[in-house]
Amino acid sequence: MTPDITPAGPADLPAILELLAASKLPRAGIEDHLASTLLARVDSGVVGTAALELYGSAALLRSVAVATRFQGQGLGAALTVAALDLARHRGVRTVYLLTETAGRFFPRFGFRPITRADVDVAVRGSTEFTTACPASALVMRAELTE
Ligand SMILES: CC(C)(COP(=O)(O)OP(=O)(O)OC[C@H]1O[C@@H](n2cnc3c(N)ncnc32)[C@H](O)[C@@H]1OP(=O)(O)O)[C@@H](O)C(=O)NCCC(=O)NCCS
Repeated sequence: MTPDITPAGPADLPAILELLAASKLPRAGIEDHLASTLLARVDSGVVGTAALELYGSAALLRSVAVATRFQGQGLGAALTVAALDLARHRGVRTVYLLTETAGRFFPRFGFRPITRADVDVAVRGSTEFTTACPASALVMRAELTE
């Protein structure tokens, strides 16, 4: 069974918030980025998320989460790849992320650790950067190719 990966809509917000809470990820501000949020669905239930906050040619990849019982089946990787494809289609060149627990998950997609000072100033002003994620979170960056 391979879950479909499809865009989120406003009606999905409660299920997204529930999955983020269960995954211990920040929820603040996600409602402002539903138009660039992807979902994995099984039987119309949400079992995975990946969201982009778009800031011109830069973006923040956030809310990459897979429900516990669907982990380890490639879904997190599929959501991440789909989000990076979406970023490319929206003209993004550089994608940033913050993570406290998955620093070893993201290098396979081209992400490398950087310092906060190296982050695009628009991305640094996002809720996730200023309030939602602790200062101890690892910051990573990937440069997208065509
Ligand atoms: C991180 C997460 C999205 C991965 O989802 P998943 O569907 O289990 O991932 P996949 O099945 O695609 O895993 C692919 C690989 O990543 C590895 N992996 C999974 N979670 C990992 C983690 N937290 N750290 C390091 N590696 C991880 C798997 O072992 C697997 O390795 P393999 O290909 O060598 O076997 C999921 O563990 C999760 O929801 N975690 C909680 C939320 C979180 O921390 N999100 C990241 C910050 S935004």
